[in-house]
Amino acid sequence: MEEENRMEFKKNILCIGAGYVGGPTMAAIALKCPELRVEIVDINAERIRQWNSGDIPIFEPGLDEIVNQVRGKNLFFSTEIAEGIKKADIIFVSVNTPTKTFGEGAGMASDLQHWENTAHAIVAHSQGDKIIVEKSTLPVRTAEAMERILKANRRGIRFEVLSNPEFLAEGSAVIDLLEPDRVLIGAHRTPEGLAAEKELVDIYAHWIPREKIITTNLWSAELSKLVANAFLAQRISSVNAISALCEKADADISEIAYAIGSDSRIGSKFLNASIGFGGSCFQKDILNLVYICKSYGLTEVADYWEMVVKMNEYQKRRFVQGIVREMFNTIAGKKIALFGFAFKANTGDTRESPAVQVTRDLLEEHAYVAITDPQALENAKQDLQGTDGRVSYEVDPYNAAEDAFAIAVITEWEEYRRLDFERIYRSMKKPAFIFDGRNILDHGKLYEIGFNVYPIGKKPLTHFE
Ligand code: NAD
Ligand code: UGA
Repeated sequence: MEEENRMEFKKNILCIGAGYVGGPTMAAIALKCPELRVEIVDINAERIRQWNSGDIPIFEPGLDEIVNQVRGKNLFFSTEIAEGIKKADIIFVSVNTPTKTFGEGAGMASDLQHWENTAHAIVAHSQGDKIIVEKSTLPVRTAEAMERILKANRRGIRFEVLSNPEFLAEGSAVIDLLEPDRVLIGAHRTPEGLAAEKELVDIYAHWIPREKIITTNLWSAELSKLVANAFLAQRISSVNAISALCEKADADISEIAYAIGSDSRIGSKFLNASIGFGGSCFQKDILNLVYICKSYGLTEVADYWEMVVKMNEYQKRRFVQGIVREMFNTIAGKKIALFGFAFKANTGDTRESPAVQVTRDLLEEHAYVAITDPQALENAKQDLQGTDGRVSYEVDPYNAAEDAFAIAVITEWEEYRRLDFERIYRSMKKPAFIFDGRNILDHGKLYEIGFNVYPIGKKPLTHFE
């Protein structure tokens, strides 16, 4: 049956790594290119089982509909890595590249062991020429290492390495993939490199206007990915730095963001002050950029970008310090409800979520923490293993708030705006506090209900003399 299907397809695409990027990107390619057979493989058998089930392993609005449409037709999930490599014409590598936790560069450099394992697997199982596409975010010039591993073992097989970094954001992955601002493809400017580049351009051109497909040299593509994340994160740290000043100067960070964002040279996006950015990539990619700069001896450049991460740490710390200070310098024995645990709305992902740090800091102060989140409770439990007894998990935000002394809004879930805060207020200990780490609630209304309200970068609204 499989064999019969294979004959119908024009090309075999393989993706190694069935995660937050591999799953959605390949589902989009399968949807838009029915003549391609797309297979996603992973060493994590449980993850593959979930992709093959009715309950896919990541929450991403709109994704399950697409997967249901193409799975079993031209999209397949499997643990058969060797077989997949053998069949593939084009191999996307979309494995995780976390910050290294050991040895040289620990805490800064990318841990490339998963990525290198895939290079060795590709060499071991390839029987014909292949195009290898770096989808993972990698340090600049990583393709060179990939080429060396492949060429040192090549046995007459030709491998052409391309860089095709992914710019999707979690929570909006489907729309980002179907209507991206741009697709970036880096290739060697040689006849072979350009031919491989054309093959990949042709895939994306199925649904993306040609002028949005940017082609560059390999190193520019690799580095553009790190720089894009660094610039985005830098905007958040910049606005968060100013939020601290607003709180001293009685200015309002939302008014400032609007005023400066109206300048078309600055633009309005990514200027929402918050408790700090989270997610699996911003911090890791900036630290990686810092490490690369340091390794080239560019100390000032490294220090400049490292401040973006340091400012983010400061913002998270400052949030908890504010809670303790405003609640009469003690939260020991008090219940605090965290509204949201995911690193942003519309995802269940909690990797590097500020919520993790905030919870640990609150526990350090001997508070009890009740966590509610529409999608992230299972991941929260994993993240907070070992804190049993002092942390509770509530599907229902009203239960989380009951008998709490304070609510801290951590994630900007739309449903939190629509809660019945009069009911919540009645169920809480008094005086009741709200620390809105996302500035999503109606602060004036909360104040009228009776809450003492502490936004980010704005004057607090309190009933105290
Ligand atoms: P992830 O951890 O969700 O998925 C990676 C998958 O690779 C895992 O399922 C893991 O089991 C698998 N894997 C690891 N080694 C393997 C091997 N040798 N063979 C087969 N499978 C293997 O990671 P992710 O969030 O999808 O990120 C992947 C890459 O994409 C990273 O480099 C990341 O920086 C980048 N990226 C992520 C996002 C995002 O929104 N998460 C966006 C853009 C780019
Ligand atoms: C980010 C980038 O936006 C993607 O382009 C990139 O592909 C991806 O990283 C990656 O390389 O992994 P993501 O981390 O999924 O995407 O989500 P973002 O929307 O960028 O949000 C990151 C963090 O910044 C979240 O914690 C979010 O709440 C926070 N944020 C965002 C703010 O605090 N303020 C803002 O104005 C915007």
